[in-house]
Amino acid sequence: METNQSKHKIRICLGSSCYTRGNAENLKIIQSFVEENNLNVNLDFRGHLCHEDCNRGPVLSIDEVLYEEVQPFQVEKLLQEKLI
Ligand code: FES
Repeated sequence: METNQSKHKIRICLGSSCYTRGNAENLKIIQSFVEENNLNVNLDFRGHLCHEDCNRGPVLSIDEVLYEEVQPFQVEKLLQEKLI
């Protein structure tokens, strides 16, 4: 049985621009959310290096949809909508 197909995918930019402008905090929020909601099994969560979207950062993607200028106060709502 293939279970990977149903996995949600989160990618967060850990390049220095995104990281210092919000993704350091966003990363912590995502990690806490995943832990609190026991989402680890069904989640493929990885960081990546800068891919030159810095001027629209901090960037992250959920299930291949790119979100730009993501501020920490927006992250939990986004996760609730996409993962729960
Ligand atoms: S640091 Fe995130 S796109 Fe450049």
